[in-house]
Amino acid sequence: MTDEHDTSGDHDTIDALLDEQRTFPPSEAFKRNALVADTSLYDEAARDYQGFWARQAAELVDWQDDWHTICEWELPYSKWFVGGRLNVSYNCLDRHVLAGNGDRVAFHWEGEPGDSRTITYAALLAEVQLFANALKSLGVAKGDRVNIYLPMVPEAAVAMLACARIGAAHSVVFGGFSAQSLTDRINDAEAKVLITADGGYRRGEVFPLKTAADEAIAGCPTIEHVVVVRRGGNEVQMVPGRDHWYHDLVEAADPVCPAEPMDSEQLLFLLYTSGTTGKPKGIMHTTGGYLTQVAFTHKYVFDLHADTDVYWCTADVGWITGHSYIVYGPLANGATQVMYEGVPNYPANDRFWSIIEKYGVTKFYTAPTAIRTFMKWGAQEPAKHDLSSLQLLGSVGEPINPEAWMWYQEHIGGGTCPIVDTWWQTETGGIMISPLPGCTTTKPGSATFPLPGIGAEVVDDDAQLVTHGGGYLTLTQPWPGMLRGIWGDPERYHDTYWSRFEGRYFAGDGCKLDEQGYLWLLGRVDDVMNVSGHRISTAEVESALVSHPSVAEAAVVGANDATTGQAIIAYVTLRGGLEVAVDELRGHVAHEIGAIAKPKAIYFTPDLPKTRSGKIMRRLLRDVAEGRNLGDTTTLADASVVNELQRRAVEAPTED
Ligand code: PRX
Repeated sequence: MTDEHDTSGDHDTIDALLDEQRTFPPSEAFKRNALVADTSLYDEAARDYQGFWARQAAELVDWQDDWHTICEWELPYSKWFVGGRLNVSYNCLDRHVLAGNGDRVAFHWEGEPGDSRTITYAALLAEVQLFANALKSLGVAKGDRVNIYLPMVPEAAVAMLACARIGAAHSVVFGGFSAQSLTDRINDAEAKVLITADGGYRRGEVFPLKTAADEAIAGCPTIEHVVVVRRGGNEVQMVPGRDHWYHDLVEAADPVCPAEPMDSEQLLFLLYTSGTTGKPKGIMHTTGGYLTQVAFTHKYVFDLHADTDVYWCTADVGWITGHSYIVYGPLANGATQVMYEGVPNYPANDRFWSIIEKYGVTKFYTAPTAIRTFMKWGAQEPAKHDLSSLQLLGSVGEPINPEAWMWYQEHIGGGTCPIVDTWWQTETGGIMISPLPGCTTTKPGSATFPLPGIGAEVVDDDAQLVTHGGGYLTLTQPWPGMLRGIWGDPERYHDTYWSRFEGRYFAGDGCKLDEQGYLWLLGRVDDVMNVSGHRISTAEVESALVSHPSVAEAAVVGANDATTGQAIIAYVTLRGGLEVAVDELRGHVAHEIGAIAKPKAIYFTPDLPKTRSGKIMRRLLRDVAEGRNLGDTTTLADASVVNELQRRAVEAPTED
């Protein structure tokens, strides 16, 4: 597409000297086959956004009973497709098999050691029915919560769909989270059953998951049964009566489990995400609206041609991206996918590219932090493989810098693939801001425009509309996949999202609007860090640090990092006379939260910079961490603290 992108500056309104001003219209070749190549969906939604979503719900989803009201909106609570009944697992499985597509591959699963499994829609349906009956045999019923703590194995999708089939809500916890994190999430959800594995493969080794699960449930009174998937082959302790092997349960189960219709607003899942205080929030998603939005966005953002595409999303099922764009969206659309268990550099740095070549992947969805890592490893890695099957690339999780966007397009996309930079959140359920690849002219680094049916505006501190320049991203109208609340904490739901700007959902992200109305996401404006596309709250890492017996006080900030977006930097004061090694503290945080929350650097300091009222001055700590000149420090209680910190920041070695 090099002949088509505009770097020449012949646009009157564009300053061609700025990289971000390069524009990439969809190629004629892409448009010819695209599901949407004009603005008709935007026009339709602009006339009547609820009617637009109702049409999508009717077209993309099978309903047992029709709804009587499209949307009930009483800020901050919405209900969608009220009165309608449907089953999510029926929509993801049965209807494809009934339509004669049972032999279509649902998952090409690739294990990290190189083993693989091919799972058709018919096989997936059979397995989900067996496991749904197995869950029933353990006493799981409609309305219960089931926790899932698994590696990237097909059983993760099976477990989620089996819950959906019988109306139990799942709460998936990322396999990289610690036992303590799992305990907190199980207890908050009051889950009855935990589904885990003996272990999974990561970087050529088996990481023991069951051991962590055992440690976790020692503090979980509500757990009655534990189901263990055999994957790692490592030795585990099975508690008689409580613990069951997945394969034993499935072998004994009845093969038929009819999909029971659920109310459109039945709780489908909880997914915990970080907020500005230490306690993670159980984000609630329900059935009909969520499925409609993930099916719609997956189909149109990825321009899905289900009978020919091979789609690969590299996220873990433990995050919202895995829920919406590995399990529910793609399966609802009858897509064929690749699912990969391990890391991108095992056995070598070209593992992803060898997988794309092996399966002929056409649509590829990954995160900027991964792209920047691939850039570091060098263009010779993708060049070893034939990536010509690729037709479209996606990005999610954090702002993608124009340089990474350009590298992605050139070295992975062969210069011809459109890139969809998709902005959304755990809370939004599905993609909100993104190009439609057959009709949107993209700019490297911009997520472009709200999708049809989505209302987004940038406002300033006083909630005044920003028409050009920087401000806060807000959402102006309800959308079908929106969170329905925070589990057990309605007040926090209102305060976190709906109190900052009246009548608007506040996403917590800064955003710039350019003169052509393109949205440029600028990252979090609250105390939530974005590390490798994952949200981690400063408060959570601080409380993990302070829970170490040697630590008196801790302040954590996110500093810009070339690879991970932000890196966690911690400033720690120790209790009188005590000492602790940096590595021990990092290990302690990993034990409390998980390896993703390990600070990159820890600085010990006799004092933290505080205002006279005792508030830690984070802005200042960020400036120190990023090596900036410090502005006004006159509000500090003790200015010498900062000089000392700066001296230490220069001296201290950075940890990997
Ligand atoms: O700051 C935004 C960033 O990720 C946050 C949401 O994180 P999480 O709930 O973990 O979901 C991640 C996957 C959807 C947002 O508030 N973010 C996500 N996508 C983008 C992004 N920032 C800029 N551009 C994006 N495309």
